[in-house]
Amino acid sequence: MGLKGRDFLSVADLEAGELLLLLEEASSFKQSLREGNLRRSLQGKLVALIFQKPSTRTRVSFEAAVHHLGGHPIPLLASDLQLGRGETIADTGRVLSRYVQAITLRTFAQREVEELAEAAEVPVINALTDLEHPCQILADLLTVKEHFGELRGLSLTYLGDGNNVANSLALGCALAGMSYTAACPPGHDPDAAVLAHARALGGEESVRVVEDPREAVSGAQVLYTDVWTSMGQEEDPVKLRKMRPYQINRKLLDAASPEVVVLHCLPAHRGEEITDEAIDGPRSLVWEQAENRVHAQAALLHLLVGE
Ligand code: CP
Ligand code: NVA
Repeated sequence: MGLKGRDFLSVADLEAGELLLLLEEASSFKQSLREGNLRRSLQGKLVALIFQKPSTRTRVSFEAAVHHLGGHPIPLLASDLQLGRGETIADTGRVLSRYVQAITLRTFAQREVEELAEAAEVPVINALTDLEHPCQILADLLTVKEHFGELRGLSLTYLGDGNNVANSLALGCALAGMSYTAACPPGHDPDAAVLAHARALGGEESVRVVEDPREAVSGAQVLYTDVWTSMGQEEDPVKLRKMRPYQINRKLLDAASPEVVVLHCLPAHRGEEITDEAIDGPRSLVWEQAENRVHAQAALLHLLVGE
């Protein structure tokens, strides 16, 4: 086992033991940060953060994590780079590898992070593509582990659009020994190949896709939702109508177990996929989850490129 020098393009790049190691490292980083007792394992190292889509959490939490570890983040909007004028992602990666010790990329096609990783000589981290959002899932699983003590055996239900977050969650749950149910309207399931991969990792029974949101929440310890229109997609009124029964609201929470907690990767479209009452209510772990992005990514950077 060893993550040093590796890329992190998909949750499935990790083995189960590596995921647990990352989560333990994240908890220990969180503790050190609170005690003011930080390890400076990125001292003297530079991390380029490239964004082809907007970001609040991913950008600021990566910048914060690099600072906390003693390194220097270089945030780059693709529109300011020659990338925005047609230079290839591979050439960008070849050049940046001469300047920095790691590169994160938020973009559209998964192929783009793969091409960057093939060309770059330093670790490449997927900071969200249309297919996956693996860094988010590290923070999500950390949040669930902190709350329940352990992950194995828990059930998570994702409601709404079967998007990048839903895909990465399926893989994360499978690796962690959790059951995963996606409740989505017809035509909006998570990616079929990703679900097949998750079943191969976690077992056929551990991954379910259902249409009925009430059936999906029964027995779950964690409810999770995300926006109905992801970045880069056109708002589609027909799709939004089909999503309505999947909103996390008081009625759906009443149908879930009393111990259920609510997660959302944010940004939230309050009143669409989640009500104010649910996101601001006592079952919500959403703000802890957002904080945990820093700790999870610090652990990731430490293990991939730290001294
Ligand atoms: N959850 C998340 O990735 O948020 P941002 O789009 O703000 O980075
Ligand atoms: N599914 C959302 C996640 C945002 C963090 C999107 O891709 O826009």
